[in-house]
Amino acid sequence: MAFVNENFFKLSPSYLFSEIAKRVSDFKTNNPDKADSVIRCGIGDVTEPLPAASIKALHKAVDEMAVRETFRGYGPEEGYEFLRHAVAENDYRSRNLSITDDEIFVSDGSKCDCGNILDILGKGNRIAIPDPVYPVYYDTNIMAGNEDIIFVNGTEDNGFVPEPPFEKVDVIYLCFPNNPTGAVATKEQLKSWVDYALKNKSLIIFDAAYGDYIRNPDIPRSIYEIEGAYQCAIETRSFSKSGGFTGLRCAFAVVPKALTAYSLDGEKSVSLHSVWKRRQGSKFNGVSYPVQRAAEALYSKEGQAEVRQLVDFYMNNAKIIAETLRKLGLPFWGGDNAPYIWTKTIGGKSSWDMFSFLLDNFGIVTTPGSGFGKMGEGYFRISAFNSLENIKEAAKRLSSL
Ligand code: MLT
Repeated sequence: MAFVNENFFKLSPSYLFSEIAKRVSDFKTNNPDKADSVIRCGIGDVTEPLPAASIKALHKAVDEMAVRETFRGYGPEEGYEFLRHAVAENDYRSRNLSITDDEIFVSDGSKCDCGNILDILGKGNRIAIPDPVYPVYYDTNIMAGNEDIIFVNGTEDNGFVPEPPFEKVDVIYLCFPNNPTGAVATKEQLKSWVDYALKNKSLIIFDAAYGDYIRNPDIPRSIYEIEGAYQCAIETRSFSKSGGFTGLRCAFAVVPKALTAYSLDGEKSVSLHSVWKRRQGSKFNGVSYPVQRAAEALYSKEGQAEVRQLVDFYMNNAKIIAETLRKLGLPFWGGDNAPYIWTKTIGGKSSWDMFSFLLDNFGIVTTPGSGFGKMGEGYFRISAFNSLENIKEAAKRLSSL
């Protein structure tokens, strides 16, 4: 008899965005006349074509795969040196952050990295998860059997940037710019987390998937801008939202060599870099060569300009949505350093009721705030990832809210 991982029984039956997709599909089946006019501002999925620099690099790499002399089989599971170097050089060293090429681990997504990292952490850690936040952190901890989870709340009062708890925790998830609220953390706010982690020998898992959307030069894009973070933080980043790679799949985790974790008795300290490398060796075969070349191309001069253009494009969408909400007099957060806008439901509706109300009456898909945690109840998220035409149409519809 095969036994199932019973931790799955503790989870809601489906993942947030799968549940939304199902409800949208049901709506379309039941309302065929409205099916074509539904506008998706739910999941943060990009709509615009890949940057030309990446397309060019993809074509070239495919051609290389067609010729014996340049064909490639298995690549290094940590990623090709050309991409690790481009990442470390452009995202870190050029910003005076001393990350070496071999501290970069290329992967197929930040969602996967955030979940997989639990493979190398022991059982019994006390975990701090912000609320509201990207549901993957909670779900994957439940799957791994972690029970000692505390929530650090993001509220209107703290601008959706939770403070470190009074009690001691071992592992901390942070996501800035925040998904779902769009909040960003200042240097001082991140410093309080880094200081806390150093004092308590905790590990921070810093999800910076939306770092390229930061417009304010005073807001840190990387946790390593904070002194001491090399000793306490892993950073995950993705090309999904910056390069439009949601369908192509490429991301990376930064695991500094200075980072340590401990044996249960606290006697032995181990380099997490070497444990993660070991884990990837046995469980991952790397990202395909053409995709890594496409990611590398994002760092070329042409690629950088195109990334900027793409991010500007979605940020302009966010501005249009924000303007609409402002005119309606609705309070909202985010949208200036992040592609998400977080707002309150109207008339005291629950988050899911607001979701249904907007879908049924306006043909607009949003994400219910309660899907991101208890503290998200009474809010909903509007994603700026869509075509300009659709965003303008969504703004027009929302104007009569
Ligand atoms: C979101 O909409 O929250 C994200 O697109 C989900 C993801 O990146 O996995």
